[in-house]
Amino acid sequence: MKYSLLVAFLIVSLTGFAQNKVINPGAVWPDDKGNHIQAHGGGIIKIKDTYYWYGEERAKGLDPNYRYVSCYSSTDLMNWKFRGDVVKMSDPENLGEGWILERPKVYYNKPTKKYVMYFHLDTKNYQYARVGIAVSDKPDGNYTFVKSFRPLGHQSRDIGQFIDDDGTAYLVFEDRELGFHIVKLANDYLSVEKEMSLVRMPLEGGAIVHYKGLYYSIGSALTGWDPNPNKYATAKSLEGPWSEFKDIAPPDTKTYHSQSTMMLKVVGTKSTTVIFMADQWKPDAQWDSRYLWMPLEIGDGKLWLNQPKPWSIDVKTGEHKFIKQ
Ligand code: DGJ
Repeated sequence: MKYSLLVAFLIVSLTGFAQNKVINPGAVWPDDKGNHIQAHGGGIIKIKDTYYWYGEERAKGLDPNYRYVSCYSSTDLMNWKFRGDVVKMSDPENLGEGWILERPKVYYNKPTKKYVMYFHLDTKNYQYARVGIAVSDKPDGNYTFVKSFRPLGHQSRDIGQFIDDDGTAYLVFEDRELGFHIVKLANDYLSVEKEMSLVRMPLEGGAIVHYKGLYYSIGSALTGWDPNPNKYATAKSLEGPWSEFKDIAPPDTKTYHSQSTMMLKVVGTKSTTVIFMADQWKPDAQWDSRYLWMPLEIGDGKLWLNQPKPWSIDVKTGEHKFIKQ
């Protein structure tokens, strides 16, 4: 038996499951227990050397009276350990049957040492349009509901998270009346301090990255669970002005059948990779919704998502490589 095969055999027999050596966009993504990762509409934070991925837990067989947020941890972005459902919440504000908790995002607040989760809280008909906040002392929960509100008085549905290189925390939210807001969080992250930009574009799945002196923002059009061509704009400052929006991929691919949720910047010793994180929703089988993660081609004001294919990343060097097929 070849040495590599022997090692793989030993890993599988000792741990029960094989290590993921690649990220395969759109494929089933097994966690440490071999279950497809449930972290839809998710977001990631890095604490020391560990990445935490939070998202909508939509596994089969959940109690329909509750909404769940899952947490996974990883040190290589390819292998994820299920840390549990860090939110199991019953209707917090008498929102009624079919109430909604979507797109959870967690920030770590240094002054208070609290993990602060933002999420989209809504009624079944999406008319409540608020953000909810839950807090925890540890990254992997449990998170306790604190309150809900409309940021700066505006309706808020999809939210996105952005932490700048200097650690400042921002929230992106979609407001059907006005557009795409980028707001700065207050010092304790429990409220919104001020508006940085209002981009008058109807954009969901908002995401931002700061790369080589330029801010790039991404969003999708408003087509429910159906994919559409996601677009990007750039600005030298979060306060704008923002450039016109352009396609991030050939429009007929509808973002390779996906919707943005975050851009993750991995800064290593040799290189920086910006990962486009997106959801491939399956509205009739949400537990089987997939993730499309791909390194972006980015720089000099341009951003492009290539045809998805398997790849791997070295989080130490920041380098990624595509796997020959
Ligand atoms: C699009 C949003 O991006 C999703 O988070 C979800 O709210 C769906 N709409 C619901 O149709």
